[in-house]
Amino acid sequence: MDQVKIEIGQELLDDLYSSSNILLLRKGTVINEIHMRLLAKYNVKTIKRDSIRQKPLSEEEKVKKVYQETLSKLKEQYASIYKKEVLTSEDATCIKEAFSGLVTKDNISLIQLKEQLSQDEYLYQHSLNVGLVARKIGQMLYLSKNEQNMLAQMGIFHDVGKFKIDPAILNKPGRLTDEEFEIMKRHPQYGYNLLKEAGIPQEILLGTLMHHERLDGTGYPNKVSSHIPFLVRILSVADTFDAICSRRVYKDNRSIFFAVDELIKDARGNRLDIDVVIPFANYLMEALKKRKIPLRNGKTAEIRHVFPDRPNQPILEVEGYLPLNLKESGLTLLQVASV
Ligand SMILES: [Fe+2]
Ligand SMILES: [Fe+2]
Repeated sequence: MDQVKIEIGQELLDDLYSSSNILLLRKGTVINEIHMRLLAKYNVKTIKRDSIRQKPLSEEEKVKKVYQETLSKLKEQYASIYKKEVLTSEDATCIKEAFSGLVTKDNISLIQLKEQLSQDEYLYQHSLNVGLVARKIGQMLYLSKNEQNMLAQMGIFHDVGKFKIDPAILNKPGRLTDEEFEIMKRHPQYGYNLLKEAGIPQEILLGTLMHHERLDGTGYPNKVSSHIPFLVRILSVADTFDAICSRRVYKDNRSIFFAVDELIKDARGNRLDIDVVIPFANYLMEALKKRKIPLRNGKTAEIRHVFPDRPNQPILEVEGYLPLNLKESGLTLLQVASV
């Protein structure tokens, strides 16, 4: 029988004995460092292949695995659209199915999600993340399961029109010129046209066409201000959130503080829907509650209380100091947190 090396994290499927038949570890043990020392003492380094297995994945690891798998399916599917420059209804079904595995994961953490972003393959990741974020917002606003799933699909399709944009503009590292930006602004209409041909539900069509429209009429392509459907308003918040987090101006938590500040500014300026932004910002801040946040003064803080109307100005518990009420002092978390 094949022997394999014993490693930390593996789980024993049988009791493990030494060469002189002393029981060392019981079946079900997950090997840790102390076990490794014991095994070294008895000179046990290997085990029969079918007496050990990798430790089962934690919930977090499972979510990450499904996320990665979905991403690669999405990438394959999008790559074929890119080649053909048309989207068939079969493509659309495949894309929706690729996503369905992840849609069932109710507890996906958006904070965790953000940390997985990388610069390459941005468009696939962005589409997937916007779908997950939009769906999460739908869930926190108590929308129906159908609407939540619709939001997920609106997210994965919303930027499909970018496949019609010249890659030199799409992937340009620096700022776009005015002329290039005008071309970029065509992607909602391109996406709408693509999806319309593929016979996609109306909500997804409108999400694709209107996700850059703003409530004050400053958006594009049609500068509409009224008649933006509620699901599209949610999509716009999810899209803005992911776009800000992916810019990587700040790392880790700070990019979330930055995104929350930006979303709130846009909501107060009547560009994004305040009834979507405020609950979402509350959710993000609540999710950060147990994290240690480094401050500019060198101290560490934890969020103690989030004011529902001012989620970016919580009360902080600062080590060795009195609690710091940001709402009272008029500062936001972004202003006091360090990179
Ligand atoms: Fe877009
Ligand atoms: Fe987008």
